[in-house]
Amino acid sequence: MKRHIATQPFEGQRPGTSGLRKKVTVFQQPHYLENFVQAIFDTIGDCAHKTLVVGGDGRYYNREAIQIILRMASANGFACALVGRDGLLSTPAASCVIRKYKTDGGIVLSASHNPGGAEGDFGIKFNMPNGGPAPESFTEATYARTREITQYLTLAHEDVELGRIGTQRLGDMTIQILDPVADYAELMESLFDFDQIRALFAEGLFNICFDAMHAITGPYALEILENRLGAMPGSVINSVPLPDFGGGHPDPNLTYAHELVDLMQGANALDFGAASDGDGDRNMVLGKNFFVTPSDSLAVIAANAHLVPGYRDGIAGIARSMPTSQAADRVAEALGIPCYETPTGWKFFGNLLDAGKITLCGEESFGTGSNHVREKDGLWAVLFWLNILAVRRQSVEAIVLDHWRRYGRNVYSRHDFEGMDTDTARGIMADLTARFETIKGKSVGPYVVANADDFSYTDPIDGSESHGQGLRLIFTDGSRIVFRLSGTGTEGATLRIYLEQYLGPEADLSGDSQELLAGLIDIAYRLSEVLMRTGRGGPTVIT
Ligand code: G1P
Ligand code: ZN
Repeated sequence: MKRHIATQPFEGQRPGTSGLRKKVTVFQQPHYLENFVQAIFDTIGDCAHKTLVVGGDGRYYNREAIQIILRMASANGFACALVGRDGLLSTPAASCVIRKYKTDGGIVLSASHNPGGAEGDFGIKFNMPNGGPAPESFTEATYARTREITQYLTLAHEDVELGRIGTQRLGDMTIQILDPVADYAELMESLFDFDQIRALFAEGLFNICFDAMHAITGPYALEILENRLGAMPGSVINSVPLPDFGGGHPDPNLTYAHELVDLMQGANALDFGAASDGDGDRNMVLGKNFFVTPSDSLAVIAANAHLVPGYRDGIAGIARSMPTSQAADRVAEALGIPCYETPTGWKFFGNLLDAGKITLCGEESFGTGSNHVREKDGLWAVLFWLNILAVRRQSVEAIVLDHWRRYGRNVYSRHDFEGMDTDTARGIMADLTARFETIKGKSVGPYVVANADDFSYTDPIDGSESHGQGLRLIFTDGSRIVFRLSGTGTEGATLRIYLEQYLGPEADLSGDSQELLAGLIDIAYRLSEVLMRTGRGGPTVIT
């Protein structure tokens, strides 16, 4: 029985870099999730005859939210919902399913790498029929709806059995519960040379660890790496998705993936290590005693794409987010293909991918992907590396050093000041903006400022404009400092400082990035006065 429930708008339901993210407790307020879901459905318009994909990363409140969404989808007239078993779908797998079954889009429940649990974060976003995050025009329309909403539609109906593969009915809507891994694994097999990777593992001399961080990629990595590719049993650790991620912070970086990092250091270090985040779209790649920056990873993947079956015929172009290092630009130049610079956030890659302008894209925030789906894809990046390693039979470090010797090294780091007071963070950005007015052409330490601006982007496909995407200080030697406020946090503000210095192929290319960047770090801290204004001794996270 369809029910019209009266409601009132909630403040602050504006989607950020990647959907609406709030504390679980905020989403648990009566009508909060419902209002946002109705606003999405209202933005879609007529839902009749449409098929919706629904799944999430399994975090706390995932199941409850899915039952609410399914009842509302039925009441709003959707004909069919495709749902991952137990309500699970990694973000890239959701994108894969949306595309493969030519559906009308999907709702993905995740707060990505943010901690989960009753006190943790929850999130919801809508992906378009192309499998990619909704563009700003859509999310802004949804936000506008949340501000005027007066009612939502739902059904009085018992819960769907999320654990049962197959077809069920919910009112007039058909529900198909899918194996969350099968379609995605099949897609990976179509892109990579599984035989060659299998041969690498079969020799027994190549040991890996994949840390699923108690998050969604566990079942995917077990099936693909251990079952299909024959990696040694136990290669996938923390493989059971838990609602609170085991109390951890499911962000694959050197700080949070410490269990993996320990296995990759010392005399007995493994040959290859990787981790993925809460919803499976991020990746970190490690070699024996060696960390590959995500920016370098994108460049190495691009330079070696011809070794991988799915990309053997060449890549059309590359895109990277503005703060991501310019390592990929050099590969694009060598390949004679375009390299696009977009604002932070995966949604800006969608149009370029759809238009066939790019094949590969990535962000410094441990995100890499291609035109195979419309989200970044953690396991895909891991498989890409494994395929390269299986062909080249060199260590991860040797491959990266070889890359630097050819293209030079874009020494790179990001310093995050998390949980800052919002006014302090805004004040720093406002004062930097003011200083940028007069800084052009001036010397700062050994550097001369070539350009200082607030990054704006005009989408080359639809002409849409995005402003205020980060303050960049570009020096005459190509080095950069970028200041940006995070758009994904749920508490206070996070200031991100991105640092990049280029070393040519003939320079001494080894060395620790923090030491090599010490001069730029000093300039960034002094210009922003971040330590003084926060009263802190340093950043919370360095990647
Ligand atoms: C962060 C990353 C960004 C990424 C987003 C979603 O956004 O910086 O590259 O696309 O998470 O995973 P931010 O918090 O910086 O707005
Ligand atoms: Zn994520």
